[in-house]
Amino acid sequence: MIFSVLLTPLAKGVIIRRPRVMALAERQQWDACGIRAMQRLRAKHGLAPYPLRIFGRQFALLIDPAEVERVLEHSPEPFAPATREKTAALRHFQPHGVLTSRGELRELRRAFNEIVLAADVDVEAVVEYEVDRMLQHTTTLDWDTFAVCWWRIVRRIVLGTGARDDNGLTDSLAALRRAANWAFLRPQRRGLRRRFQRGLAVHLDRAEQGTLAAAIADVPVAPGVDPYGQVPHWLFAFDAAGMSTFRALTLPPDDLAVLEAVRLWPTTPLLLRESTVDGTTYLIYTPFFHRDDETLPFAHRFAPEIWRNGRKPALVPFSAGPGVCPGRDLVLRTGAAVLTALRARHHFTPSVSFGPELPATLNHFGLRFEVN
Ligand code: HEM
Repeated sequence: MIFSVLLTPLAKGVIIRRPRVMALAERQQWDACGIRAMQRLRAKHGLAPYPLRIFGRQFALLIDPAEVERVLEHSPEPFAPATREKTAALRHFQPHGVLTSRGELRELRRAFNEIVLAADVDVEAVVEYEVDRMLQHTTTLDWDTFAVCWWRIVRRIVLGTGARDDNGLTDSLAALRRAANWAFLRPQRRGLRRRFQRGLAVHLDRAEQGTLAAAIADVPVAPGVDPYGQVPHWLFAFDAAGMSTFRALTLPPDDLAVLEAVRLWPTTPLLLRESTVDGTTYLIYTPFFHRDDETLPFAHRFAPEIWRNGRKPALVPFSAGPGVCPGRDLVLRTGAAVLTALRARHHFTPSVSFGPELPATLNHFGLRFEVN
């Protein structure tokens, strides 16, 4: 149980995915094993949180959807998003991010993130241009081709056209994220982080119109917020949005296809909350709550209608409560714009075909589409 639920997300890479491990995970359908292990645990143990002691620390694995809702709703007090594991991992590239902040500083950084990420940015125009450019020379769309286009889009939305071709910036971030996968176990690459931060600041200082950088320049900032220090999280998290958009291309067209893709293949498989009362860390294994075929009739099929009828308990691809992802709307808008732009121009036939039951693990690195 510990292997399939706790270790497989770590092996795949929590902060940046490892392509070879993802291929193995898909072949062996690791998430299906995790979901079954959780179902067995529920049958044996019931709905109460399942206590675990690991390296002398107290953890509790949540089994009951109602408990998931309660813990996420009562965040950041007494269930803090800033757990020790996340702080150790994310300090490699974003030591001042909201997710690892506590107390008043967290509140100020959270408000800043919410305001800037709700800004009106030029998503559709950027997407149209970049998708057009990509498709000019593409007969087979694979992950590598898609990722080049995706990162151009992301750099333009966040930083502006001046950052469009700055692959070096996002490559440096990828190197820092690879170190972050090892959390406590790898020393920080402070020199690389400084160079990354300097490169990022050059783009942000331009505050190009229609970008998140411009929105940052417009927002009054309270002391301690570190506005530029929030941006590495955005760039990092757009990776999950890219993989979900690419996976959604295997699904039928629908405005909510990206949201369904993150339900079916959650990019944050473990949500963590640390009790500010006794230090217990609560673990929420999202694939189980999203695809529990003993309780959810739609578990393994494409079911965008579930989001139109109001959110169901414990379907939490973007988390929930006060720590919910403030980038959610921007992600869904960008992903939908990319899918619309692709499908307006061509047909995309995936190299894999699914029956009505969708696989529990889908390796985005291995996907490819015939373009007609
Ligand atoms: C498919 C794409 C994405 C998914 C599934 C996703 C999901 C999540 C989840 C589950 C959390 C909570 C993490 C936790 O409690 O440990 C979170 C937090 C966060 N996300 Fe996203 N995210 C995505 C993309 C983005 C993007 C593109 C941005 C910014 C542009 C963003 C900004 C943030 C921030 C700032 C937080 C921290 C919020 C806080 O601590 O209050 N996310 N996201």
